[in-house]
Amino acid sequence: MKQLLQNYKTGELELAEVPAPALKPGGILVKNHYSLVSVGTERAVIEFAKQSLVGKARSRPDLVKNALNKIKTDGLLATYRAAMQRLNELLPLGYSCAGEVIEVGQGVEAFNKRDLVACGGGGYASHAEVVFIPKNLAVKIPENVTTKEAAFVTLGAIALQGVRRADLTPGECVAVIGLGLIGQLTVQILNAYGFPVLGLDVNQRQVEKALKLGLREAAVIGQDDVEKVARAFSDGQGVDAVIITAATKSSEPIELAGRICRDKGRVSVVGDVGMDIPRNLYYEKELDLRISRSYGPGRYDPNYEERGIDYPIGYVRWTEKRNMEEFLRLISIGRVDVKPMITHIFKIEDALKAYELILENPNREEFTAVLLEYDPAKGHTAKITLKAGPSVKRSKVPIVNVGLIGGGNFAKSVILPNLRKLDKVHVKAVATATGKSAQAIAKKYGCEYATTDYHEILNDEDINLVIIATRHNLHAPIAIEALKRDKNVHVEKPLALNTEELRAVIEAEKNSQGRLMVGFNRRFAPQAIKAKETFSNRKTPLMIHYRVNAGYIPPDHWIHDPVEGGGRIIGEVCHFVDFLQFLVGSAPIRVYATKISEGRAVIAEDNINITIDFADGSTGSILYTALGSKSLPKEYVEIFADGKNIIINNFKIGGPLSLRQDKGHYGEFKAFIQAILEGQPSPIPMTELALTTLTTFKIHESLERGGPVSISLEELGLQR
Ligand SMILES: NC(=O)c1ccc[n+]([C@@H]2O[C@H](COP(=O)([O-])OP(=O)(O)OC[C@H]3O[C@@H](n4cnc5c(N)ncnc54)[C@H](OP(=O)(O)O)[C@@H]3O)[C@@H](O)[C@H]2O)c1
Repeated sequence: MKQLLQNYKTGELELAEVPAPALKPGGILVKNHYSLVSVGTERAVIEFAKQSLVGKARSRPDLVKNALNKIKTDGLLATYRAAMQRLNELLPLGYSCAGEVIEVGQGVEAFNKRDLVACGGGGYASHAEVVFIPKNLAVKIPENVTTKEAAFVTLGAIALQGVRRADLTPGECVAVIGLGLIGQLTVQILNAYGFPVLGLDVNQRQVEKALKLGLREAAVIGQDDVEKVARAFSDGQGVDAVIITAATKSSEPIELAGRICRDKGRVSVVGDVGMDIPRNLYYEKELDLRISRSYGPGRYDPNYEERGIDYPIGYVRWTEKRNMEEFLRLISIGRVDVKPMITHIFKIEDALKAYELILENPNREEFTAVLLEYDPAKGHTAKITLKAGPSVKRSKVPIVNVGLIGGGNFAKSVILPNLRKLDKVHVKAVATATGKSAQAIAKKYGCEYATTDYHEILNDEDINLVIIATRHNLHAPIAIEALKRDKNVHVEKPLALNTEELRAVIEAEKNSQGRLMVGFNRRFAPQAIKAKETFSNRKTPLMIHYRVNAGYIPPDHWIHDPVEGGGRIIGEVCHFVDFLQFLVGSAPIRVYATKISEGRAVIAEDNINITIDFADGSTGSILYTALGSKSLPKEYVEIFADGKNIIINNFKIGGPLSLRQDKGHYGEFKAFIQAILEGQPSPIPMTELALTTLTTFKIHESLERGGPVSISLEELGLQR
């Protein structure tokens, strides 16, 4: 299918051929009829992307600060890779569209196939032939509203939210500064509810357009005596509220709003304008300045937008979805009319011309709303084949043909660059949920195909290594399916989210011709191997202390989601448990964990002290905390036995001033590829994979019980 993408580094636009997105639980697949080009926002995004690296850094000092902090904890190379990786991403454009539901995901009751829906959300309601939309970002279209009109839904909801933030009461009057698309929608909404509106813009043509579309009173900033007009419009009091829908770096709209507002009036800021607030003006009138955040409550809340958890209507009357519904209702009762705003409709095939119009306008055309139109009769597929090099048949050459499932941050910044360094490895195919990420990886790494249906990879006979780098909920289910097809499987940590899943993986591995490997990379770090050798003939048990300055991750991050991530103990502490098990070389038999008390910005289970006892009498402790400063390197290990000790400082390699790190990622892939090519068993035995994973479950049990918990392979039906 076709999708409009933008290169974040160069700002270039591309109409790409990508696989249609995967259907995920909690959402729907929608075949687009129309999508609206949000002229102001999309122009700003493209212009930002076109800036040089220095320009980008100047515009976003917050990102520069994050990068500097990351250098301190993760090292220069990892930070550079992550930043480059982000810059090389292809971003989907568009966030307002309408079309027909073609698939309904698990857990979605409100929609059926063939429903006509309007959709919102950056990264979801894109300029693409098919889009995946989480259920809280889609609304049904009333019968008398067309998909062409409904494609305005997101911009309508933004305008409506700006009106709500102005907190108007019956009888009040309002001024709107900036009469672009959102300003004109704002005027129409205010007209619909019967509020007297004064429209203001620096551009006379915009003002004239708005007057034609139903604005009754207007003035041109810089030309008319706007303050006088506003006073006359509001019976000499000053307007009750101002809604700013202009887009400019200048703070003039904020100043003007202050001047024309009445005493104790309200200013609702929707547009991206300069925010140098004239204090005296705002102080003397005691004005309320409110920022209006996008389409309304729910915006930027992953629990609402991605996980579909609604706020009770009694507490949040107007969510972003309810704003979208209300906007469509206003169209359906004839109070808002968007049709006259449509100046251009381009077929998706001509999408680049639409952007030429809004960015360069070579023919000096008038435009307000620009729509992209799609052919609803066109089919789409979950797989695209690329013009890559000739296919490598495994039967003819000893080679590892990789099928990568999941191509997110980790796959792009760590897995793929490490695979590239290895001989006899060919990444044949890649599967992700949104087609664009699979397509971009496939192009970069010369893959033969990109897909959004990972079964294509599992059913591909030439693929002898499946690498699973999705979020955690899919690890065990996909690993089991792949093992059942006798594939070699490298699954990123964690192997499983609970004991049932772990048992099922063990069973699948037992009956498979394939090998299983988990991304417990630290045991493959050169310093880990050296430490293991140093203590190989030790006479005493080992004592190990592993301190992890893990950094704070907010509670709404996916890793904390019980379904998708399973929390940081299962999702990350597993690394350190595995490291201890590797060094000791004996089974963990008991674990005792304590945590700090929960509080503001403190997630207790991310701040734990764990003691693990091993069968040979060794013991290790893991202090894992999210409370520390970002400037402290992340990991510090002290190992003691036989009168000797070894310290590993954040897996740094090279001299004291070196910022290089080797956490074993290359070594882990090298070892597994070698095992496959040489017909050797997996570098980490199943019993150890199982014990590490089981220990993380037991850490949770210990925290709940408040005491030590035994660990035994027998409960998993395994023997050491
Ligand atoms: N070993 C380590 O040191 C280490 C460090 C960090 C992370 N990790 C692990 O790496 C894994 C990925 O983490 P991340 O940060 O890269 O996550 P992420 O950025 O969210 O990436 C997840 C990937 O999974 C894809 N995906 C989701 N559903 C899918 C489906 N049904 N079929 C195919 N692909 C699907 C996503 O597709 P889209 O691109 O289309 O959204 C995305 O490419 C996690 O298990 C994490 O714990 C390991």
